[in-house]
Amino acid sequence: MNELLTKQNLEYQAKTREIAQKYIKPVALELDLNQTYPWEIVKHLQDAGLMGVWIPKEYGGHSGGVMNLVLIVEELSRACGGIGVGFAVNALGSFPIILGGTEEQKQRFLPDVAAGKKLVAFGLSEKSAGSDAGSLICRAWKDGEHYVLDGEKKWNTNGTAASTYTIYASTNPERGGRGISAFIVEKGAEGFTIPKEEDKLGIRCIGVAELLFDKCKIPADQLLGGTEGRGFMNAMMTLDRARPGVAAQALGLAQGALDLTLEYVATANLNGESVSSSQGIQFMLSDMATQIEAARRLTYAAAQAIDANAKGVSKLAAMSKLFASDVAMKVTTMATEIFGELGIIRDTGIEKYFRDAKITQIYEGTNQIQRLVIGRTLLKEAASKA
Ligand code: CAA
Repeated sequence: MNELLTKQNLEYQAKTREIAQKYIKPVALELDLNQTYPWEIVKHLQDAGLMGVWIPKEYGGHSGGVMNLVLIVEELSRACGGIGVGFAVNALGSFPIILGGTEEQKQRFLPDVAAGKKLVAFGLSEKSAGSDAGSLICRAWKDGEHYVLDGEKKWNTNGTAASTYTIYASTNPERGGRGISAFIVEKGAEGFTIPKEEDKLGIRCIGVAELLFDKCKIPADQLLGGTEGRGFMNAMMTLDRARPGVAAQALGLAQGALDLTLEYVATANLNGESVSSSQGIQFMLSDMATQIEAARRLTYAAAQAIDANAKGVSKLAAMSKLFASDVAMKVTTMATEIFGELGIIRDTGIEKYFRDAKITQIYEGTNQIQRLVIGRTLLKEAASKA
């Protein structure tokens, strides 16, 4: 696949691979066990100039687009799926500002994210509004020079580590999705607290938190884009650009599981026979590698289509996330089975890939939501041809 990558793509890939090998692999299991945020790794990524690669140059980034983002997330996730998503979420949290912020908001908030000085998180989901994002109940209203935010956000990835948040709330409940607005909120805002961080199956080194806005006051100029009612569309456009990042996380961790399995079968013996000589094992390895390669092609195609401003990216982005995350689950399941009983032992490192894979089928829209997005687009395309 390298023959299809540009010189710049290969440079980002190589830089990230080096960091992953040198600094992530040795600590991934320990960070996972203790649910420790990988601040040291963030520092290495910052020093290597990899934070905010997708952010336009005029706001301190590299204008590297979604393709380079995807390559970086893939390499990080090959060593640790948690660190992969911890990085990718900065794109999810900053795309709303890139897509919908005023010039002043872009100048003010993006450079610190691009420099890795501030991490940014995305607050859309709520306890009773996950898949049906338009039904959120967090409210916001204008009060003089401020907006007041009132409500809770759930499943906020990087919630504890971030300093800046894009938060969606309804400024006009009667208008449903069209009444949703987006706000840029900074940690420390009056009335904003983080009451809970979850204990999780996978991606354990990355905090997933509950955010509470108790009549939280934010300056009125932090209404994204300066206009109410544009939040839902902004969130949907953001997810279209971010979903290939989850696909890359899934792809990377599936590749990491295959790498480890190949290392294992090269030396493992069963009843005096080498495991690698078993045709059954070879069939499983072939299926794993073939599915990973298909997921890679689809993920890169989605990223390249987004960077080319192609039409219909929702469908391709949803397909990449759906396919790659299902592949991650299949591949990590097969890998765990090839390891036999060792597959469930923490020290082997393989069960972590399995645990990290599951969430990729769930967040940034469950795979059922991806099917809905793809299905609706197919029907619209068919109707427009009829
Ligand atoms: N781009 C631009 N506009 C879009 C759009 C898109 N991709 N999708 C929809 N819209 C617009 C529509 O055109 C429509 O506009 P009008 O009101 O002007 O007509 C409006 O948005 C409403 O669209 P729908 O009628 O299609 O909306 P819906 O209520 O039926 O819901 C949905 C659509 C696809 C199910 C949506 O609710 C959805 O994506 N749900 C999943 C949410 C999700 O992915 N959450 C993940 C949270 S982030 C996360 O998980 C973070 C993490 O931990 C890492």
